[in-house]
Amino acid sequence: MSDIKAAHIKGAHAESFALNQARWNEVVAIHVPSPFYRVKEFLAGEDILCPIEAREIGDVGGKSLIHLQCHFGLDTLALARRGARVTGLDFAANAVAAARDLAQQAGIAARFVEGNLYDAPALIAERFDLAYVTWGAINWLPDIKGWAKVVAAMLKPGAELYLLEGHPFAFTLDQVGAGTVQADGAIGLSDPAALLRPAYPYFRGVGTPLVFDMPETYTGDGPKLANTRTHEFVHGIGDILTALIEAGLAVTMFREHDACAWAMWPMLVEGDDRMYRMPEGAPSLPLSFSLRAKKG
Ligand SMILES: C[S@@+](CC[C@H](N)C(=O)[O-])C[C@H]1O[C@@H](n2cnc3c(N)ncnc32)[C@H](O)[C@@H]1O
Repeated sequence: MSDIKAAHIKGAHAESFALNQARWNEVVAIHVPSPFYRVKEFLAGEDILCPIEAREIGDVGGKSLIHLQCHFGLDTLALARRGARVTGLDFAANAVAAARDLAQQAGIAARFVEGNLYDAPALIAERFDLAYVTWGAINWLPDIKGWAKVVAAMLKPGAELYLLEGHPFAFTLDQVGAGTVQADGAIGLSDPAALLRPAYPYFRGVGTPLVFDMPETYTGDGPKLANTRTHEFVHGIGDILTALIEAGLAVTMFREHDACAWAMWPMLVEGDDRMYRMPEGAPSLPLSFSLRAKKG
């Protein structure tokens, strides 16, 4: 992806990037100590990867790996512990600083680069064996075709992308009623699926943001935020697959999952594996998906 194209994407979506960057910079101080992320357990030696990626990522030993939108580097460092030579990229300066600090505390060698995703090929000269993108990354990006080109540009020939994300169909639904499901069934415990309604379009003009105003971050702790407004982008499954194919990647694995790493809606129930699913008795829904794609 040329710098000219990256500059165009960044220029056209400057407001979205500025809002989102401010938000992400603010939440780092809340996320690092949050029980949601389990940094203490990580520093004590636990593998904090969620079960889906822990199962699917395979042997990363000896591989060079780029973690795009790495937040404060927790997964990046978990992958380094599994033997990868890791580089993380994120546009939130506070996240990159926290990632470097965490690497030092854990005694793990890692490189963290601050920058916009669309600038990755220009900012990082190395090309990698594996690109890793998970849980709440591509919904911040206005241009999915541009993202796929960046991924392709960062990979060596024959190298792979591993992508694990919230399911875009699930992103169209919202829970009716703010609270969790009550035992008295006041908002429909006998039919939990009836609590869900289509709230956001699945098909949307390319690059048109959904505008949210959320005073709290998804970990559910911490003070009210100053940067409440975010711009997010829904990319349908067809658009994601098409973008990857057009960027020269062959999709070699695609799976849908009934679980998600966070409580997408209050009604979801946390399992022993720390993953969130529909309540017992409710129909299962695709809450996340994962894929591997190989550069030719
Ligand atoms: C939910 S986090 C990524 C999930 C990651 N698996 C984790 O460890 O939690 C989303 C990250 O994307 C980053 N981000 C959002 N838009 C970006 C962009 N345009 N360029 C680079 N990073 C971006 C944010 O700063 C944030 O750290």
